[in-house]
Amino acid sequence: MLEAGAVVLTSWPGRHPIPTGSNPARTDATVVSLGPSVEQWGDDVMRAAIFVGPGAELSVETVEPWAAEGREVVVRLEASGVCHSDLSVMDGNFPGPPPIVLGHEGCGIVEWVGPEVTRVRVGQRVILSLSPVCGVCWHCLRNETHLCELGMPLMAAPRVRRADGSVANALMGLGTFADVATVHEASCIPVETDLPSEQLALIGCGVTTGLGAALNTAAVRAGDTVAVIGCGGVGTSVIQGAAIAGASYIYAVDPVALKRDTALELGATHAIDPADGDPVEQVKALTGGRGVDHAFEVVGNTELMTQALGMTRRGGATILVGVPRYDATLSVPVLPLITQDRTIRGSYYGSSRSMRDFPRFIDLIETGRLDLASMITKRFALDDVNDAFAAMRSGEAVRSVIV
Ligand SMILES: NC(=O)c1ccc[n+]([C@@H]2O[C@H](COP(=O)([O-])OP(=O)(O)OC[C@H]3O[C@@H](n4cnc5c(N)ncnc54)[C@H](O)[C@@H]3O)[C@@H](O)[C@H]2O)c1
Ligand SMILES: [Zn+2]
Ligand SMILES: [Zn+2]
Repeated sequence: MLEAGAVVLTSWPGRHPIPTGSNPARTDATVVSLGPSVEQWGDDVMRAAIFVGPGAELSVETVEPWAAEGREVVVRLEASGVCHSDLSVMDGNFPGPPPIVLGHEGCGIVEWVGPEVTRVRVGQRVILSLSPVCGVCWHCLRNETHLCELGMPLMAAPRVRRADGSVANALMGLGTFADVATVHEASCIPVETDLPSEQLALIGCGVTTGLGAALNTAAVRAGDTVAVIGCGGVGTSVIQGAAIAGASYIYAVDPVALKRDTALELGATHAIDPADGDPVEQVKALTGGRGVDHAFEVVGNTELMTQALGMTRRGGATILVGVPRYDATLSVPVLPLITQDRTIRGSYYGSSRSMRDFPRFIDLIETGRLDLASMITKRFALDDVNDAFAAMRSGEAVRSVIV
């Protein structure tokens, strides 16, 4: 039921901008609805999976979407990938203040645009970018759009109203575990392709993070040697990026057989099972005792970061992609860092430029060099989103998608 004094925007679904003017829901308790009330939509029209607090499963609820004002866009989601970072929020390892709609790897169709939107138009296909690209901030102007300053204010932006009238945020300002998401236009990357939405969705985080870590952050070159610790959605993307760059040997480390098999299918030359002995020693044995040019940690565990360092050759680079608990620290002996001319680098969102890289990655899929179809091993309906996280925990899925 809408509250007294509610401003109701009645044309839904819209094919034109909603009226201009400030959104009172941002400043007081007045409800602004995009369309008919929740009761009129029925249960299946707008659902969102909300993290309500530590230890709880995601709550799939009927909610009111957020009115798109200014530079905001309403996107009807067609597919959403399930990334470990969502699980990290649920486990309390990554900040995401509840209640918050999870999901940050999505693809859909623009259904409505705010009055100041210029980047996209209604009906256009978009991939939602984990990191927005405002185009004008200090970092965007320095060609570091993955560090766009709009990212911080959007980290937990208010995005839906729950049935009890309270407001829930959306992770990264996206909240893709939903039927509809209201996002900033800076988070929308328009794409022109006939590829399946479930593949495009993965570009929104995991694929861009992994491919970018290999191609942008590490800038792997033909003939380089690479080790990848952790072969989930992001790790297999690092492997594919390294293979596309022409790496010679790619060592894939993962305790789960399915992940090792998929890694081999997607470009790894060797699969290493930690159960067979210390992975550092296994990689050293395979590289004449020297180690690899680039070692990537793609799990989010400081012990494994130390392993990655141990696998890296003198003069090589250790790239940290996995996200550990927010307060984790890494202890590193400094002398070898200097005398062995080593590099340790963090890689956020694959140091990518979404506007440039998304179309590049689509070209690589369309020309058969990048295989996202083989990465998708499970599909779930939004109502079953918790099963997707169970599959991630048990190692049953390389990447799951909500479709
Ligand atoms: N840096 C970024 O911008 C960025 C972006 C997205 C995700 N991430 C992070 O990347 C990490 C991976 O994400 P994902 O979605 O691929 O997760 P995932 O759960 O799909 O994959 C993690 C993999 O690590 C493997 N693993 C577990 N223990 C291991 C061990 N001891 N040795 C080797 N492998 C081990 C698991 O079997 C699994 O295959 C997460 O920490 C996630 O938060 C970082
Ligand atoms: Zn992610
Ligand atoms: Zn910016």
